Amino acid sequence: MQAVIRSVDCAIPQRRMSNEEFTAILDTSDEWIHSHTGIRYRHIADPDQAPSDLALEACQKVLSRAAVPPDEVDLILVATATGDYLGFPSVACIVQDRLGAKRAGAMDLAAGCTGFIYGLETARNFVLGGGARNVLVVGAEVLSRIVDWQDRNTCVLFGDGAGAALVSASEDARDGSGRPRGLLASVLRADGSGAHLLERPMGGTRAPFDPENFDRTSACLRMDGRQVYNFAVKAIAEGIPEMLAANGFGIDDVAWIVPHQANVRIIEAAAKRAKIPLEKYYLNIEEYANTSAASIPIALTEMDSKGLLREGDLVATFGFGAGLTWGGNLLRW
Ligand code: ACO
Repeated sequence: MQAVIRSVDCAIPQRRMSNEEFTAILDTSDEWIHSHTGIRYRHIADPDQAPSDLALEACQKVLSRAAVPPDEVDLILVATATGDYLGFPSVACIVQDRLGAKRAGAMDLAAGCTGFIYGLETARNFVLGGGARNVLVVGAEVLSRIVDWQDRNTCVLFGDGAGAALVSASEDARDGSGRPRGLLASVLRADGSGAHLLERPMGGTRAPFDPENFDRTSACLRMDGRQVYNFAVKAIAEGIPEMLAANGFGIDDVAWIVPHQANVRIIEAAAKRAKIPLEKYYLNIEEYANTSAASIPIALTEMDSKGLLREGDLVATFGFGAGLTWGGNLLRW
């Protein structure tokens, strides 16, 4: 039994916001943002759009592309840090209902920007264990609603969007050379000692919203950018070669590395440190900024639509983010 990605797709909000637009509200510039991050645009959800709306659109497209009806979905996993509601109900349950996936279980997954990678590995294990034949794995975020729009250190970095993959059971999927296709292996890691480096301090049960003493910035995303940068470079530079070696592959076997799109400079530094050519990494942060758990499925969708993913290609995803978490998936397309 194998777990293969049958289709990928995404949902991108129409509103496209340029770096220039920030100069009206903040002391910043297109030059600073682009040279420090690689970002030029981000897409911003409409006021009436929540992550479940974007996730639903991505799931509908994915199922229609694979010609799988909603009632054949066994499980819906939504990776998100910006759920429609705090804690419950899950985004996945809202999607399950609106999709009409009557036989599906549904749950959200909190692993920060590594969420989609954790989701693919969870789906693979459900499929290989016989618990599910069709799993929708989604990354969906509306980060524009949790950033502090007065903090130039953070608000310029993030965008909204969703991406989804249908992971299905296959008895013996092989490429033209007879090699097994699908999700081959993953590495999942965490280090909670860095939990404070990326957090949203208020609103959980440790520090509930207090209308009497409301500190607006505590309800927003907070980040120690420099520390996160250092962590991310190390995670990618060491993590990708380790994941490949553990599965008997070298970098020359890999057609594409699809990293979490947080900052071009992180990828450049990691590529240099690991001595992996930058051309191996697929980058689209310029258009979407950091969409957290949605960034990797959005990138896969774009690559697929450009014809960059050919059957038999070995693809390595790699993510890092809040938790701290990091990890990657190895898949034969
Ligand atoms: N415009 C203009 N100036 C700015 C801006 C801005 N948007 N943001 C920060 N600056 C200023 C700072 O205030 C600082 O000024 P000062 O020296 O007067 O204090 C100066 O620029 C330099 O600040 P640094 O923090 O040293 O800038 P750096 O080059 O490190 O870039 C950045 C900051 C882009 C945040 C970088 O540290 C980074 O990419 N960190 C990782 C962020 C990340 O990837 N987060 C998400 C990962 S996990 C997840 O996806 C949830």
